Amino acid sequence: MIKKTMAALFALGALTFANTEAQAEEMFGYKAPNSKAAAGVQVFHRCKKCHSMDPAKNTFGPNLRGVYMRKAASLPRFEYSEDLKKSDIVWDEDFLRAWVEGNTLVVSGTRMRHVQITDPAEQDYLIEFLKTFK
Ligand code: HEC
Repeated sequence: MIKKTMAALFALGALTFANTEAQAEEMFGYKAPNSKAAAGVQVFHRCKKCHSMDPAKNTFGPNLRGVYMRKAASLPRFEYSEDLKKSDIVWDEDFLRAWVEGNTLVVSGTRMRHVQITDPAEQDYLIEFLKTFK
């Protein structure tokens, strides 16, 4: 039920690009360059209680501004898990996809609570958002 509602919301998000764009701009000063990225803003609601997009701010998790192609565990002022530090991951599209699909399967000792975004469309939106928020 919740899943269906979410799916409907995402579809709506993609359709009402102008609306979500305005919302994103208000939220983080982010201008979505396309409708996929705008839909990604909606998916990011599931991350933002722990992750900021403000480069000056780490909250419960490290900030994710410019995380695309960043080396894992590389922010100087965040206390990462030993396992993520040892991982040698660079956050390219494949790793980001695997991470949001099941982060604890990628790095078993991570401090990030398990997330599971398995819908490839939702993954696409989210990755487009992270990629374009530099
Ligand atoms: C309950 C809090 C929480 C939620 C929700 C959460 N994360 Fe995290 N995230 C963390 C923590 C804590 C870490 C640090 C993990 C470690 O050190 O092992 C992290 C690490 C990451 C990293 C690695 C960053 C780096 O600098 O190497 C990425 C990428 C990431 N999260 C993406 C996401 C995305 C995308 C979502 C939403 C789908 C999400 N997270 C949801 C807490 C959270």
